[in-house]
Amino acid sequence: MKVEMKLKGNMARSVNPYGCKQEVLNQINYVKAEGDYEGPKKVLVLGASSSYGLASRITAAFGSHADTIGVSFERGPKDESMLGTAGWYNNIFFREFAEQEGLIAKNFIGDAFSLEMKEEVIKYIKESFGGKVDMLVYSLAAPKRTDYKTGITYSSALKPIGQEVSGENINLEKEELFTQVVEPATEEEIEGTVKVMGGEDWEWWIELLKEADCLAEGFKTVLYSYIGPKVTHAFYHDGSLGVAKEQAEESSKRINENIRELNGQSLICVSKAVTTKASVVIPILPKYLICLYKVMKEQGIHETPIMHKDRIFRTMLYGNEANYDEKGRLRPDSWELSDDVQRKVNDLMAQLTPQNFKSDLTEYQLFKKEFFNLNGFEVEGNTINEVDFETLKAMKP
Ligand code: NAI
Repeated sequence: MKVEMKLKGNMARSVNPYGCKQEVLNQINYVKAEGDYEGPKKVLVLGASSSYGLASRITAAFGSHADTIGVSFERGPKDESMLGTAGWYNNIFFREFAEQEGLIAKNFIGDAFSLEMKEEVIKYIKESFGGKVDMLVYSLAAPKRTDYKTGITYSSALKPIGQEVSGENINLEKEELFTQVVEPATEEEIEGTVKVMGGEDWEWWIELLKEADCLAEGFKTVLYSYIGPKVTHAFYHDGSLGVAKEQAEESSKRINENIRELNGQSLICVSKAVTTKASVVIPILPKYLICLYKVMKEQGIHETPIMHKDRIFRTMLYGNEANYDEKGRLRPDSWELSDDVQRKVNDLMAQLTPQNFKSDLTEYQLFKKEFFNLNGFEVEGNTINEVDFETLKAMKP
């Protein structure tokens, strides 16, 4: 059976499992070409199956020879029209490649917010993972979360606060610019977004791991945040997601208190904007990205998730080139936010029209390719576009 990219708006409705395999391999090869570094050895990644979480897992495993546990929420193949999610296959092939190098690569598929998942992971760490982790990466991007202490389910909403905002976005299916009007978030939506995308669940993970004596001396933990430039603030930094990320900063402070006796460190890492399934549905962001990529590419500093996370791990989290801001947050996004880059991006955005946005003026084609790559399409080095359903069904994470 042949697989090809199917889009519904900015959501992918198909997957090429072998393209995902090649994409994982390409990322591994990127890290290997950068060489080894002295980093973490026992890593737990929450949200490990795609983009920033997957990239973190790959750099830890293939740059620092770390054993890894990955938790993610993904679906396997159901029938020939539903082959599962890209993250499902990323997990499978990551594990295969890591095991070939003699590394442990355990995948847990299910709800990271639940108590059951936390207990299962802790049991595994104690029984089969050497008893402790020295790093926890918190890279979840989720639409909802059930608080297991109250049983209440919360939903996140990417919305502005206090004002209706309109802005242009790109429809990848129709390859058109369109104007999106987003109503302000209600109080309930803001609260929901904080519950889902803030730091509470992160704190609960750390508390339970510590209680179970699963945190190693010198343990580090990191949560990825985004601030971005002014043009994105109404939707992001000053919107409901920004409130959630600010709350995660408070969580990070409490985690630091909690792990002080272990000489541990909790960090918020403000990362750059990249093409992911979460970022392409944020209003304005795609339009900003095609201009940002143009400018950063011209300056030789364009980064994909693996380039960004690998740099963060080897030069900042485990290197001596970390740059912190006044709030103690790690700021690898400084390349994106430099005055020079932002001035040029603003100039470019002002020139965009529905007619020219796909031209060489921008990196629309690169953005589209990166999006296709997330689902295993147009991946450099992959030649397999035919799949056998039964073979895919037999693969286990
Ligand atoms: P993504 O959508 O590519 O990955 C999200 C991960 O979370 C996947 O592994 C998914 O399976 C997992 N997940 C979702 N719900 C889950 C659940 N209930 N239980 C277990 N796993 C679950 O997202 P992306 O873009 O990599 O974002 C990760 C983090 O990085 C987010 O906190 C995001 O705000 C942050 N970030 C993203 C930026 C971007 O440009 N994409 C920029 C800066 C920060």
